[in-house]
Amino acid sequence: MISPHGGTLVSRLANGARRAELEEEARGLPRKQLNSRDISDLEMITVGALSPLTGFMGKADYDSVVDRMTLTQGLPWSVPITLSASRAEADSLPEGSRVALTDADDQVLAILEVRERYEYDKAREAEMVFRTTEEAHPGVAALYSQGEVLLAGPIEALRRPNHTDFAQYRLDPAQTRAAFQERGWKTIVGFQTRNPVHRAHEYLQKCALEMVDGLLLHPLVGDTKSDDIPADVRMRCYEVLLEKYYPADRVLLSVNPAAMRYGGPREAIFHAIVRKNYGCTHFIVGRDHAGVGNYYGTYDAQRIFDEVDPELLGITPLMFEHSFYCSVCGNMASSKTCPHGRESHVVLSGTRVREMLAKGEVPPVEFSRPEVAQVLIQAMHQG
Ligand code: ADX
Repeated sequence: MISPHGGTLVSRLANGARRAELEEEARGLPRKQLNSRDISDLEMITVGALSPLTGFMGKADYDSVVDRMTLTQGLPWSVPITLSASRAEADSLPEGSRVALTDADDQVLAILEVRERYEYDKAREAEMVFRTTEEAHPGVAALYSQGEVLLAGPIEALRRPNHTDFAQYRLDPAQTRAAFQERGWKTIVGFQTRNPVHRAHEYLQKCALEMVDGLLLHPLVGDTKSDDIPADVRMRCYEVLLEKYYPADRVLLSVNPAAMRYGGPREAIFHAIVRKNYGCTHFIVGRDHAGVGNYYGTYDAQRIFDEVDPELLGITPLMFEHSFYCSVCGNMASSKTCPHGRESHVVLSGTRVREMLAKGEVPPVEFSRPEVAQVLIQAMHQG
């Protein structure tokens, strides 16, 4: 079994007497309400998906990650994991204090020990992490809307965030690792996705599965931008697809609680590290991974892996070129394996597919499995 990033699977969920103690303590603490993106990060820290992090990053790690894509101790890490606060809020939380982190219903999720408070340069973070300072970029917009101060320190969680969806698919890293072991899988490829599954995704997943023992389908179900297809619809697409087209004993479908950052190359490294913590040995990186608009080159998210020490990264990226159905080849192929021109390729833009589905039209079987298209059409007409 692959080691978690940094060697130990972090667990920050308090149990039994410790939990009761924290519950009691939280009653007397100041409170800070988290937004859904913060809650995704908090949950991932809690369950070890962000191992070796045990809390929100301090200034030294933050600078090191932004400038050099490593934690101060040298491990690769590509995106800051931070908790922002307004100046007024931060003024009331001096270093050394403890604060109860709550959800929107004022339920205490965790206690943060405030070891540091620091100001940060949002434009610099945007430029380094997102390669742009344009607010039209959804990751940059989220960053710019944050508070001006970062609170840092270890967290201890009292409970998991309240989820009403995907109960059977919410496996923690310890659980996916146990499932892999139970199935006897030694090599596992992880697949990140935020879009409805289409034939090119299936092609990548199955090509990879030819080389390894098992496939972890790991759709992201944290916040996405408003025009992305909602996670429940995407999960239904996977359910109908798996039922008919995948060998049940080679695939595990589970959800990734992360929020999407749309950070392209930097986020590809981050996605790989998270899947390593879930027990994957390999990770798929296709065209414009985690990209948005025209901010990143088609293969930038693959090239960035050259900047990271593969030994320290630990998980092996499997790179795939732009894939499609080719009518001359008569099968799925990619720009690497198909010699024919564009006119023989079935390639549809997201916008075009949405238009078709909205009209109740089923996209060609070469693009989407009909069962998946039906789920999407139904969702559009309900929504
Ligand atoms: S992402 O934001 O999560 O990357 P998406 O769900 O569309 O978006 O992609 C999931 C994975 O499949 C990513 O690794 C992406 O690069 C890859 N991918 C998507 N479509 C294609 C395609 N047509 N050809 C090659 N790779 C693709």
